[in-house]
Amino acid sequence: MAEKKRIAILTSGGDAPGMNAAIRAVVRAALYFDMEVYGIRDGYYGLMTDDMSLLSAGSVGDIIHRGGTMLGTARLPEFATDPATRQKCYDNLHAHGIEGLVVCGGDGSYRGASLVQKESGGINVVGLPGTIDNDLAYTDYTIGFDTAVNTCVDNINKLRDTMASHGRVSVVDVMGRGCGDIAVRSGIAAGAEAILIPEIKKTDNQWLDYIVQKLRTSFARGKKYGIIVMAEGVYAAPKMQHFTADYIASWLNANSNTIGHRVDARGCVIGHVQRGGSPTASDRILSARMGEMAVNLLRENKGGLCVGIVKNRIVAADIDKALSMRRRVDKHLIELADILAR
Ligand code: F6P
Repeated sequence: MAEKKRIAILTSGGDAPGMNAAIRAVVRAALYFDMEVYGIRDGYYGLMTDDMSLLSAGSVGDIIHRGGTMLGTARLPEFATDPATRQKCYDNLHAHGIEGLVVCGGDGSYRGASLVQKESGGINVVGLPGTIDNDLAYTDYTIGFDTAVNTCVDNINKLRDTMASHGRVSVVDVMGRGCGDIAVRSGIAAGAEAILIPEIKKTDNQWLDYIVQKLRTSFARGKKYGIIVMAEGVYAAPKMQHFTADYIASWLNANSNTIGHRVDARGCVIGHVQRGGSPTASDRILSARMGEMAVNLLRENKGGLCVGIVKNRIVAADIDKALSMRRRVDKHLIELADILAR
């Protein structure tokens, strides 16, 4: 009797809600097609230390609704820089007879996946976009983004309650590294006065002018409080490190006169809360669809690919091409946020 095809899955980089649903989808789809699946603990680190075991249908039960990743995750910079570390990983995969690997993570994890595909000597790798940032250009959505946006909106709703009671302005810092998608979507959904994202290049003074103008308009029509959403990538830019939510809030307090209204502002960093929590139905369904596609690709002995969703169709893209694509910001959404906040 022919041996069963063996694949493995790891989650890597920052965790994202929906990673568990993706693990479950990969394991259950693979078992359905009579394949065996190893779960590798802590991303590439577990691959290096040979920390892996076979997963059963039951072992991925009761995780679909849980945030985080049951496999654990890590960032292993040596994987990119040290060929000996990588060789150890490839040897471990071969020793277990593993022919295919699913890597669920963001761009750093994909760069690792591409190296495995090229150097391992025949192991096919398929990427699943697991990151809250939505910063992979080849796919409309990444696993975890929808949940993170909902978490931000939920938090901003709570801030809005207290800001409205006190007549204050909240400057809310959301994640997303170099990508402003979380800020744009949560800003629109929460009815923010102003949205600051790294894809729009402005100096600190230009951003402050923009905020002042937005608050002036809003106060002039009788609003008594305000919500400003900023992506962390804005102050990650060169010469912008000082430009944090707290800095903006203090500046607004000190410069109320430019707004023509008393301002009492506070900074709020939502932080890692955005990476936790039960995944939304949308993220769970995305994980299910993408996980199934990853298994199908490996069944067909295809690799060097990553799974995405474009116009609601699940697609596979070349991983290197996907990494070289530049993400475009949806300018219309920003204009829309502007129009609706007037
Ligand atoms: O890539 C996901 C992400 O949450 C980014 O939005 C954020 O900049 C980064 O990870 C934070 O990383 P760490 O968990 O290492 O602090």
